[in-house]
Amino acid sequence: MTVDGTALVTGASAGIGRALAKEFAANGHDVVLVARRETELLALANDLEDAHGVRAHAIELDLAAIDAADDLHAETEDRDVRVDVLVNNVGIGTQGAFVDNDLGRELDLLQLNVTTPTQLTHRYGSEMAERGHGGILNVASTAAWFPGPFMATYYASKAYLKQFSEAIATELRPEGVTVTALCPGPVDTEFQERAGNEDTPVGQGEQAADAVAARGYEGLQAGRRVVVTGWKYELLTRLSNVLPNRLTGRLAADRNTPD
Ligand SMILES: NC(=O)c1ccc[n+]([C@@H]2O[C@H](COP(=O)([O-])OP(=O)(O)OC[C@H]3O[C@@H](n4cnc5c(N)ncnc54)[C@H](OP(=O)(O)O)[C@@H]3O)[C@@H](O)[C@H]2O)c1
Repeated sequence: MTVDGTALVTGASAGIGRALAKEFAANGHDVVLVARRETELLALANDLEDAHGVRAHAIELDLAAIDAADDLHAETEDRDVRVDVLVNNVGIGTQGAFVDNDLGRELDLLQLNVTTPTQLTHRYGSEMAERGHGGILNVASTAAWFPGPFMATYYASKAYLKQFSEAIATELRPEGVTVTALCPGPVDTEFQERAGNEDTPVGQGEQAADAVAARGYEGLQAGRRVVVTGWKYELLTRLSNVLPNRLTGRLAADRNTPD
């Protein structure tokens, strides 16, 4: 069951989202690009239209707002765009002990990494199910497998997204909708600077966004439920199934703090 049609990508102005938007356009999909930096979105939209002859929409929106999903859905309706593939890519991280971190930033993280993707999945997923066709690609992380001291909310948010993806993959498959959780290890993007974890081992982006995006696209089209990128992380996620959380949490704590 392959998925064609328009792909909406959140967090498309940089990093993995930008690479995913390029990947979808290169494979002939019209795209809807969503983020806050309009200049970047418009430039990317122009490039993709020129390079691949697809239609590319740019929508400037703060996805950390509680009504962002409703606003985005209304905007795509106004533009008469039917979303066939939803790519929940937007996400941020925070570094530091949870009780010392700014609570407002932690709540923004939960809105961006958990609530907005959930709301968008409800909005667009129900329409896909009604049509009997569609795809959802959720960008989780290998962090989903571990407790993550010093990036506690980030790891927990990715565990939510992965479990949510796998659950609705079962629910939506009979409706003709495929759901894939893309789980990269550390990728070289703006993420580390936003999260403030550039000086930690986990903050060393080892993987390239383009390669991660290609694996995600391929996984979605193959109907895979979970795609882990990087052999080291394939091994680690498998190992974590047999190791106690106390131990994997200690390992993650080391990787999440400056050397
Ligand atoms: N990089 C990694 O090591 C890594 C590893 C595994 C998983 N991931 C996941 O991959 C996804 C993408 O991360 P990335 O590494 O590509 O990060 P990135 O380079 O920081 O890009 C984040 C994207 O999200 C957008 N964004 C951030 N806050 C936003 C907001 N409030 N409203 C709308 N858009 C917002 C940014 O655009 P604007 O600033 O223009 O809004 C940008 O386009 C995230 O879910 C992340 O958790 C990343």
